[in-house]
Amino acid sequence: MTITEPLLPPERAARVRASAEHLDFEDPALFRDTFARLYAIHPELDQVLPNSEGGQQLKYAAMMEVILATLDPPDEQELELPGLGQMHVLFGAEPEYYTWLSEAVIAGIAAKLGDLWTPELEADWTELLSKVSAKMIAGVEALEEQV
Ligand code: HEM
Repeated sequence: MTITEPLLPPERAARVRASAEHLDFEDPALFRDTFARLYAIHPELDQVLPNSEGGQQLKYAAMMEVILATLDPPDEQELELPGLGQMHVLFGAEPEYYTWLSEAVIAGIAAKLGDLWTPELEADWTELLSKVSAKMIAGVEALEEQV
């Protein structure tokens, strides 16, 4: 299944994109802070996610790239979130991990943006990550239904 419409309406997508302009997803401080938040609350994920710092940095940057790409009009990209979700079964991602990771990602972004962070941005980023996660998980459920 290919995405047929952007995950957020244009105004909210523009707000997320503008906030991302202030973020460098390859900044070691940002991914370190995010994973530290995640492991502080869910230490068991240390066994699931890449255990080298370089691996975590690559994974974080790749994940954020995919998430932001979902904001683009569908004719500009072909994203396969259900397929990505199916691949994540092999990576050991359980459905609840998506919420945990999303919360840590959003908390990390909020801390980095500081005074630029607003309730609107919190709602936008939360909805975006929730929709991306739901599409990835739906890919897994579709496979399970075929078995
Ligand atoms: C918000 C949803 C997520 C997105 C958009 C996402 C995106 C990605 C992308 C683009 C990659 C790189 C795939 C490749 O190498 O071709 C990746 C790898 C990976 N993801 Fe995710 N991910 C998400 C959630 C999760 C969750 C919830 C977990 C588990 C807690 C997870 C665990 C992993 C692991 C273990 C890898 C492989 C890293 C490696 O190469 O060793 N991801 N993810």
